[in-house]
Amino acid sequence: MTPEELKSLIRTVPDFPEPGIQFRDITTLIGHGVGLKASIAHLAKRVDASGAQAIAGMEARGFIFGAAVAVELGLGFIPVRKPGKLPIETIGIDYALEYGTDRLEIDPSAIYADQYVVIVDDLIATGGTALAAAQLLRQAGARVSHAHFVIDLPELGGAEKLRAADIMVDALMDFEGA
Ligand code: PRP
Ligand code: MG
Repeated sequence: MTPEELKSLIRTVPDFPEPGIQFRDITTLIGHGVGLKASIAHLAKRVDASGAQAIAGMEARGFIFGAAVAVELGLGFIPVRKPGKLPIETIGIDYALEYGTDRLEIDPSAIYADQYVVIVDDLIATGGTALAAAQLLRQAGARVSHAHFVIDLPELGGAEKLRAADIMVDALMDFEGA
């Protein structure tokens, strides 16, 4: 399936989680076996071109795509977790979401100095989540210069925010009218 065909598998739910938000729901994409496989194949091909040494994905939806891409490429997966989940000493960062605030944490021992880590998540909106993940990974010693998504909402400016932090953004599809 082409990225354009995959786009037709995304469900749009109006007014979730707040009035005025058009929620781009991946449930219908990942529930479609051929679509899920094709999504991972497209992502993996693009990630492979950037020469990744490991994949980082953000809890929760980034685990679905990030871990699958890591398996496809034979790379390790670094979980970027919501707070309080990791059993060892972590480093963390607070960040703003499209709606509300949240916090991400990682185990810094999961990363070695200068390891080239590529970020994978389902969606980039404001870019707050991906930028926070990149900052944490860099704090732990990783090099981060590429982030890959299934969906970009360009009107929310996330890709520009990441580019300002020297991170190239790639997405399989865009949705206008965030
Ligand atoms: C969602 C989505 C991205 C993030 C994008 O995560 O999965 O990770 O928002 O928004 P941003 O670019 O404005 O930061 P969220 O934490 O809402 O939910 P999840 O736990 O289901 O991944
Ligand atoms: Mg998420």
